[in-house]
Amino acid sequence: MHNKMKNGTIITIQNLIKRFPIGGGEFTALNGINLSFEKGEFSGIVGPSGSGKTTMLNIMGSLDTPTEGETEVLGTTSSEMTPRSAAFLRKKHIGFIFQTYNLMPVYTVFENVEFPLLLLKMPSSERRKAVLEALEWVGLTDKIKSRPPQLSGGESQRVAIARAMVKKPDLVLADEPTANLDAKNSHHILQTMEKLNKDLKTTFIFATHDDKVIKYLNRIISLEDGKVVSDESIKK
Ligand SMILES: Nc1ncnc2c1ncn2[C@@H]1O[C@H](COP(=O)(O)OP(=O)(O)O)[C@@H](O)[C@H]1O
Ligand SMILES: [Mg+2]
Repeated sequence: MHNKMKNGTIITIQNLIKRFPIGGGEFTALNGINLSFEKGEFSGIVGPSGSGKTTMLNIMGSLDTPTEGETEVLGTTSSEMTPRSAAFLRKKHIGFIFQTYNLMPVYTVFENVEFPLLLLKMPSSERRKAVLEALEWVGLTDKIKSRPPQLSGGESQRVAIARAMVKKPDLVLADEPTANLDAKNSHHILQTMEKLNKDLKTTFIFATHDDKVIKYLNRIISLEDGKVVSDESIKK
């Protein structure tokens, strides 16, 4: 692993282009992105549906690769990334909240949240403590034995949030994490995220168009048609 990054910079994106093949042609989802993120940011990528937010998060989360250009995430560049190093990066350092939750339907809420800790080979008593703490963050301690098909959309979203944060990763990538949450739950979860951000310097990058999230952000990057159209820091 290289480390060419500036002190405190955990992500750099240079001349990033992402094209998807569609019916014999190509669609350009990201069109020349240059950005960097510092450790401890609480940032949001904001833009209309189809502007490229999910594609950006997927590439930053090593779930997808650039067509052109290069990214460096927590010391690993896209050009030197292998499936193995990408899996290691995600397992150890990144928590991903998927827009579509991606919960495992046959497992309980407890087991879904426990899963990332099993990958890290954490001992069982420590695991239990961490899972219960994460479920408390999202207000779901009464649902630990439920399975995803028995949950509402909002509850599923909260399980996905607990699963992404349970290992206290360096970086949380959150794709529209409040899309199905009411104001009270959104507020509670954002306060928990803010606390992790302050206490542990966890970096959060959201994809969102939700005003409830936007008012918590300290940086807003606006995306339109795969391009950054503004990048604004907010003083608090
Ligand atoms: N795998 C794919 N194949 C083809 N087109 C895609 C694929 N993924 C995304 N796109 C297209 O890229 C654009 C950006 O998508 P996305 O990143 O999901 O936007 P957002 O999250 O901002 O709604 C959309 O027009 C979408 O249809
Ligand atoms: Mg999206």
